[in-house]
Amino acid sequence: MLEEEYEKGRRHLPAHLRPVEEPEAPFSFSIRPATDADIPDIREIYNYYVTNSVVTFDEKQWTVAQWREKFAHLGKLGLPFIVAESPTGQVLGYALVQPWAGKSAYRYTVEDSIYLGQAAAGKGLGRALLEALIDACREKGLREIVAVVSDKGAEASVALHEKLGFVEVGRMGRVGFKFGRWLGTIYLQKSLKPAKKTRLFAR
Ligand SMILES: CC(C)(COP(=O)(O)OP(=O)(O)OC[C@H]1O[C@@H](n2cnc3c(N)ncnc32)[C@H](O)[C@@H]1OP(=O)(O)O)[C@@H](O)C(=O)NCCC(=O)NCCS
Repeated sequence: MLEEEYEKGRRHLPAHLRPVEEPEAPFSFSIRPATDADIPDIREIYNYYVTNSVVTFDEKQWTVAQWREKFAHLGKLGLPFIVAESPTGQVLGYALVQPWAGKSAYRYTVEDSIYLGQAAAGKGLGRALLEALIDACREKGLREIVAVVSDKGAEASVALHEKLGFVEVGRMGRVGFKFGRWLGTIYLQKSLKPAKKTRLFAR
């Protein structure tokens, strides 16, 4: 029997007996500053990658207390920390910046961090969240953002940062060891033009 004949001969259920296919809901989200109440969701999103990937060099899951401390510290410094949430209020991902280094002359430079729940990846949310984070950094008067990305398994992150104007400025090999293998880091940097004529802030 030819394939077309076979196809023709296939039985189809009458319309009223066919299962109704729900149209897939469009992927929508809103972006807002993170709050203390988001911490359990943020922790869960991050810990998935701690346990299952080499995109972060953390090997031990973070506790709620550690996240609370980080949230409070970044809040005190006034650094952007944002989340994306679904229309039902579920946290889909987060993005934050933290000081690049402790010495005071580094005060215009931050390091970004962006993590999405697995189901929310690959749908354009990373771009939207990182764009919002960059805008917030510009508003704040920050001038340089650095991304430190694992050289294994983080292709999406490298692609996302490069799409948004980050430029690779260096690499280090074999600086991390996780799941029995050596890992390196890729450094990407983006310079920000100040949003308006802002005076540089003193230490
Ligand atoms: C990295 C991450 C934030 C990216 O977010 P995302 O929502 O998956 O990315 P998007 O769908 O917004 O894609 C952004 C751009 O990168 C491109 N891209 C995404 N993944 C890619 C891949 N694996 N290879 C090449 N390009 C890729 C997309 O095509 C898109 O380009 P476009 O906007 O011009 O169409 C997300 O995948 C994630 O949370 N990954 C796990 C955690 C992680 O690695 N965090 C970063 C640690 S440094």
